[in-house]
Amino acid sequence: MNYKILGKDLKVSAVGLGCMGFSHAYGAPTEINEAIRTIRSAYAMGYNFFDTAECYVGTCADGTLSFNEELVGRALKDVRGDVVIATKFGVKHEGRHLLTDSRPEVIRRSVEGSLKRLKTDHIDLYYQHRIDPNVSAEEVASVMADLIKEGKITHWGISEANEEYLRRANAVCPVTAIQNRYSMMYRSYERLFPVLEELKVGFVAFSPLANGVLSAAYNSYSKFEDKGDYRADMPQFQPQAYEQNTDLFAMLKSLAERYSATPAQISLAWMMNKKPYIVPIPGSSKETRIRENGGAAEIKLTKEEVALIDDALDRVKMSEVFGGHK
Ligand SMILES: NC(=O)c1ccc[n+]([C@@H]2O[C@H](COP(=O)([O-])OP(=O)(O)OC[C@H]3O[C@@H](n4cnc5c(N)ncnc54)[C@H](OP(=O)(O)O)[C@@H]3O)[C@@H](O)[C@H]2O)c1
Repeated sequence: MNYKILGKDLKVSAVGLGCMGFSHAYGAPTEINEAIRTIRSAYAMGYNFFDTAECYVGTCADGTLSFNEELVGRALKDVRGDVVIATKFGVKHEGRHLLTDSRPEVIRRSVEGSLKRLKTDHIDLYYQHRIDPNVSAEEVASVMADLIKEGKITHWGISEANEEYLRRANAVCPVTAIQNRYSMMYRSYERLFPVLEELKVGFVAFSPLANGVLSAAYNSYSKFEDKGDYRADMPQFQPQAYEQNTDLFAMLKSLAERYSATPAQISLAWMMNKKPYIVPIPGSSKETRIRENGGAAEIKLTKEEVALIDDALDRVKMSEVFGGHK
């Protein structure tokens, strides 16, 4: 594993681990001891960057709740000083809808809850999960400045940030990273690259495998039957999408062969080699895939090779993808 710097000084593994799927959105939560073992193996592989959120909660088969922050905290408590824990505030799930609330008093309550569940005295990277249209960027950023002064958080970020909000927030309290959706199937935030470079803000890419489909490991026979598995309704996992993505999968497989890698590794290496400040956080509940994804950090692509892939992505036919379009 190699490491990158987000913002001015946050040292993170070049690939982070998205922990959401252990509890939320990918079917029944993983059994807690297995989830803890898997997170610890990721640490042993060199991962030091772990992503969770206050709102990642799932219901287990026996009706108990799986609080993602709790299992991340338990898994990492013995190595707390060596890892970067990122969590998020400002969103509640109502069914599959997100309700935003970043009022200062709500943030204050959230940070205390997260610290408790994570069993830590500080959060390394605290993201506003979604912009709240009722609270200004300046107001949120000034709460972040206070939390930094108090030592409760050390860095902060914004998820699904746009340029105007980022500039306003950053002027009050420097932002370390944004966390936005980014993958070969969803590239619209490339328009933020110039502003990220100007402000020296990192880009943490969520859903970097387009929820797994860019691993080319799924096909029209793949079934997601658990009612808590959001993939069942995602456009890229519908039967016709596999047909529409035939050329994209062929392209990934041929690149994988050329670089002695896997399609998932190519998908991640493409973005990591594009900009030094892009850090993907693929999610997986399986040790073998976590190892595979971490291995993407070893793949070196030149600027020209990345540009050729971009060009091919511009032209290749692809299906719709959850969260937006190509
Ligand atoms: N800020 C936000 O609003 C936001 C939104 C969504 C996600 N996130 C964060 O970003 C992280 C990652 O995003 P994501 O989980 O939505 O999407 P993702 O990382 O693109 O895809 C995750 C899915 O891909 C599968 N997968 C991973 N590696 C694989 C491989 N090498 N081969 C085959 N399948 C593979 C996983 O299945 P298995 O578990 O079966 O391996 C899982 O179902 C989350 O865990 C969360 O921390 C943030």
